[in-house]
Amino acid sequence: MAARSTDRSRTKFLLDEKDLPTRWYNIQADFKTPAPPVLHPGTGNPIGPQDLAPLFPMELIKQEVSQERWIEIPDEIRDVLRLWRPSPLYRARRLEKALGTSARIYYKYEGVSPAGSHKPNTAVAQAYYNKREKVTRIATETGAGQWGSALAMACAFFGLQCKVYMVKVSYQQKPYRRIMMETWGAQVVPSPSPDTQAGKKILEQDPGSPGSLGIAISEAVEDAATRDDTKYSLGSVLNHVLMHQTVIGLETKKQLEKADDEADIVIGCAGGGSNFAGLAFPFAADRLTGRNKKVRIIAVEPSACPSLTKGTYAYDFGDTVGLTPLVKMHTLGHGFVPAPLHAGGLRYHGMAPLVCKLYDEKVIEAVAVAQVATFQAAIQFARTEGIIPAPESAHAIRVAIDEALRAKQEGKRRTIVFNLSGHGNFDLAAYEAHLAGKLQDYEYPAEKIAEALRGVPQVKG
Ligand SMILES: Cc1ncc(COP(=O)(O)O)c(C=O)c1O
Repeated sequence: MAARSTDRSRTKFLLDEKDLPTRWYNIQADFKTPAPPVLHPGTGNPIGPQDLAPLFPMELIKQEVSQERWIEIPDEIRDVLRLWRPSPLYRARRLEKALGTSARIYYKYEGVSPAGSHKPNTAVAQAYYNKREKVTRIATETGAGQWGSALAMACAFFGLQCKVYMVKVSYQQKPYRRIMMETWGAQVVPSPSPDTQAGKKILEQDPGSPGSLGIAISEAVEDAATRDDTKYSLGSVLNHVLMHQTVIGLETKKQLEKADDEADIVIGCAGGGSNFAGLAFPFAADRLTGRNKKVRIIAVEPSACPSLTKGTYAYDFGDTVGLTPLVKMHTLGHGFVPAPLHAGGLRYHGMAPLVCKLYDEKVIEAVAVAQVATFQAAIQFARTEGIIPAPESAHAIRVAIDEALRAKQEGKRRTIVFNLSGHGNFDLAAYEAHLAGKLQDYEYPAEKIAEALRGVPQVKG
């Protein structure tokens, strides 16, 4: 009896180090139709591995197109992940109580990584494969600074140089993120920067440009493509990145088993789609294979940058300047520069093609939420559960709270699981602005999006 009552009040569901997943889950194996091919912007034909070789190590290119359901995680990567994984699954009992909800709310906490988010899950893997293929330097972009921090740390583990193009608005809002990256040994510049042709061109047109992820990607891609010692690394969007994140959902499923519970609703915020996919894909597998068709899976994006809910499903460039191959995704147009939202990691014009395919096929849903309501949810979470969430993750909290209140209204006992993708300890300027009542909602930028969509290349697919 005593043991059961302890279980009933359990708050943390922890796994042993030996439960760290040994394989990544590749959702492509469970698609009924293959994902649309990536196209060469010049020829419009599907690209091959050699086209990507200047940018990525071959093992990652193989993972990008692999149709194998499971891919072994090398021991060298698991040895590093073990520093913070398996990450805890919490039952948000205090939040539940504050809401008076009949729903059970769980959150998977990825902020326990040294860099403070889910991003190291793929940064470590990418640094490892680059090192194994004798690359000595990696160039990347960062929005909120979380991805740059993760890659800077991973490069330090594997003895690689790291250059980070940091979106200018975040560079200004988050000096401590820059200092973290420099502490791990990376070189950080605000983007657009004069270090690349792409950056120079944008600065000429708009010297006060706040930057965007699309612009920073252009710079990092150009850096890698023009140097023999350097490859490019992307913190989201690509198939292999999403796959590296599936350790999150695989662990969560085991933890829910320990809690003797099953998810009815799975929620993640979506910038490029990687933390969402990391949690959601192992659950989406159940829908695709018919094991559980009822689980609802919701991606949450900002209403100021609503690529899934308001974008067009079309071939577009992954960056602003048009240096990348063309991918089929929900896009606001590669020229779209979102408002300087505090959730910097959600300011991306496109979305991971694998997430878009699932959305197009109605396997997953998407919701857009406004900035102020998102911060209200973050504050409620911080005051009940303690953790100050990253503004990106707070988007998932907003919808988790809304769903919990809906369950209460409908008198249902639903199980809601969301990904708390990172902590917000370096996002306090955003909290200060919110607490001072200075944070604003940005109107849905219909005209700017319409204009940017006119620049989307005309490709059939
Ligand atoms: C804490 C956190 N969550 C979410 C995101 C969004 O990225 P993704 O959609 O790839 O998970 C970011 C990006 O920087 C982030 O820092």
